[in-house]
Amino acid sequence: MKIGIIGAGNIGGNLTRRLTALGHDVSVANSRGPQTLTELAAETGATPVRVEEAARGAEVVVITIPLKAVPDLPSGILDEAAPGVAVIDTGNYYPQQRDGRIAGIEDEGLTESRWTERQLGHPVIKAFNGTYAIDILDRPRPAGALDRMALPVAGDDEAAKRKVRDLIDELGFDTVDAGGLDDSWRQQPDTPVYGLRAGVADVAKALAEASPERKPEFRG
Ligand SMILES: NC(=O)c1ccc[n+]([C@@H]2O[C@H](COP(=O)([O-])OP(=O)(O)OC[C@H]3O[C@@H](n4cnc5c(N)ncnc54)[C@H](OP(=O)(O)O)[C@@H]3O)[C@@H](O)[C@H]2O)c1
Repeated sequence: MKIGIIGAGNIGGNLTRRLTALGHDVSVANSRGPQTLTELAAETGATPVRVEEAARGAEVVVITIPLKAVPDLPSGILDEAAPGVAVIDTGNYYPQQRDGRIAGIEDEGLTESRWTERQLGHPVIKAFNGTYAIDILDRPRPAGALDRMALPVAGDDEAAKRKVRDLIDELGFDTVDAGGLDDSWRQQPDTPVYGLRAGVADVAKALAEASPERKPEFRG
């Protein structure tokens, strides 16, 4: 598949490594430009591109940048993606450590990914947000393995969600359908499933046990 990755840090870098290893055609972008991604390109065979080009022709696009940077993305970055593109949002809101206060999340009560979706003007599928970046490299397991981890996946577009769940399966993880994007608070930071390394049953249980309360340390 043709896959565009916007953000080449902890998560974007490791997704680039694994997806190229699986044979996908990956374009990757960061904020500073393709000339700063030559090492990652040499290591993986991915194509370093400008942000504006990352989604061109892509069937899957991953947005994996700090939440506060999402509004800085050029408008129309998804316009030239393939029809039916699935856009994965890996983002988390850390108001005190990184992102500053975002009114849409705190005052309007939008889930973090609903807010991101509004900035992008395109539906998103929330995945990988509670996954340690290193686990993308270290913890893939074949289907059926007893210690195969499961990742929650939330989103409203069922076809896009299916595509993302199939891709995660190919990456070596099970998935749990975590509902629509308005349910995705169940997998945000400080929930039981966030950072949980467990299989399908325990991930489903953790999602069910989440509380919608946003604690003071997760407010800006
Ligand atoms: N680290 C984890 O284990 C982890 C796990 C799950 C989810 N997450 C979430 O996933 C997101 C990414 O996390 P990360 O740890 O991978 O971040 P990171 O290591 O800080 O990397 C961020 C990447 O985003 C790029 N970027 C920043 N602003 C940009 C812009 N305006 N346009 C294009 N690219 C831009 C940066 O490019 P430059 O370097 O050129 O500025 C960098 O490549 C965050 O929301 C984070 O909370 C992280």
